[in-house]
Amino acid sequence: MGRVYIQSENRRKEYKESREVPLGTVMLGDFFSKDREPLGERLMLVNASHPIPQPMNRPSLIPVCDEYPEILMEETAAQALKRLLRDIGSGGRIVPVSGWRSHEEQQKIWDDTAAERGIDFTRKYVAVPGCSEHETGLAIDLAENAPDIDFICPEFPETGICGLFRRMAPYYGFVLRYPKDKQDVTGIGNEPWHFRYVGMPHALIMQREGLVLEEYVDWLEKGGRQKGA
Ligand code: DAL
Ligand code: ZN
Repeated sequence: MGRVYIQSENRRKEYKESREVPLGTVMLGDFFSKDREPLGERLMLVNASHPIPQPMNRPSLIPVCDEYPEILMEETAAQALKRLLRDIGSGGRIVPVSGWRSHEEQQKIWDDTAAERGIDFTRKYVAVPGCSEHETGLAIDLAENAPDIDFICPEFPETGICGLFRRMAPYYGFVLRYPKDKQDVTGIGNEPWHFRYVGMPHALIMQREGLVLEEYVDWLEKGGRQKGA
């Protein structure tokens, strides 16, 4: 079995100010060999053709921060998010908008958005109830702090503190789940605000290989080979 080498905490800090996340030091080796363990819940693929398995145990949920006690995530994911926000010095400049949603909440969001903004917009930015990552507790929508925040499409720029969050996210196990150039794969519009916790080393490998979860799960199933290897 091979090994995965991850940057140390100190090295990580050095990258906070850099523009690029240097992922070259993550060595995949044959970590994902044929006899690997089955993919865990953190890698659960949830999309329109992969509904959440029912019944699903309600994840163990905690608030993502003290200021927004009503916004919850699965415990490990919430702790990773707290660390990430603290380490980049967010200082309240990034705020959580939506974390765990019950099935009923997702249904209400779907219905309200369809009524207010139309079905095409809804299909682009709201997952079909039963098929939303938010129902797993592993997804979080974030916004740049501002007086008016759009609940469905919050502003999360690629520059400034949000850009820094985005660059550092893979080191803490988060991936940008719905990138602009993968809309045909994910079936969801460009969502710079929606991050999915997949844990380590998966987030770094996905970033390095340029794969969204649909592609990564498929890639792992096929044995996980580094590009060019
Ligand atoms: N906005 C994402 C797709 C969701 O509703 O889960
Ligand atoms: Zn979201």
